[in-house]
Amino acid sequence: MTWLEVETYIASRQGVILPTGSIEQHGPIGLIGTDAICAREISWRAADQCGAIVAPELAYAPAPFNMGFPGTVSLSIEVYTELVLQVISSLAHHGLNKIYILNGHGANLAPLREAAGRTNAEVRIRSWWDFESVNALRSEWYGDWEGMHATPSEVSITQHTHRRIEAPDLAAPRKLTQDYIRAHAGDRHGAPEAHRRDFPDGRVGSHSGLARPEHGILLLKSAADALAADYLSFVE
Ligand code: NI
Repeated sequence: MTWLEVETYIASRQGVILPTGSIEQHGPIGLIGTDAICAREISWRAADQCGAIVAPELAYAPAPFNMGFPGTVSLSIEVYTELVLQVISSLAHHGLNKIYILNGHGANLAPLREAAGRTNAEVRIRSWWDFESVNALRSEWYGDWEGMHATPSEVSITQHTHRRIEAPDLAAPRKLTQDYIRAHAGDRHGAPEAHRRDFPDGRVGSHSGLARPEHGILLLKSAADALAADYLSFVE
């Protein structure tokens, strides 16, 4: 957009969608930018439906546990929190006071909530996989194999929007115990060396071999529909 277009928009509206993800390994067939790509693509599609504008995505985020895998870029929690806060402040400065953050990376949630608590702008934070309709598709297609990282659902979306890496022989990863899932929610993983040792190909309980570009089309549509509706309820 040009600044003139933004000026016209803010004359009558205060809402903006801010996608955020991460830049980290996503297993042997998942793209490094998966989390940022998913949040951005869903936001763009939703915006077409609900008339929102979408700020450029905050792609860099904390992912220290994946630093044992080439290509991962990780910010400290402090820097990410401050980045979010300064972006929110800039948007609010122009009158964009209702900021809908669409998240694509579990480790972002705590710092996002921290930043939201330190601003006067009204902020709603949702992760795209939490929408009910999206969750229904995830459990129907993948069940427990959705897992925690390099999930077939996120890989499906990037197979549709970007490319599919063929891996016909990709076996299922080690299955996670309920104890492990509980103890590591919100991406509370350990040191990079231990994390790579425990999950050598980068997948954490997720069988990304089940991903299909056709699934990606439906996941994207379902998430965008849900985001558009939730955004409208937020700004109205
Ligand atoms: Ni991810």
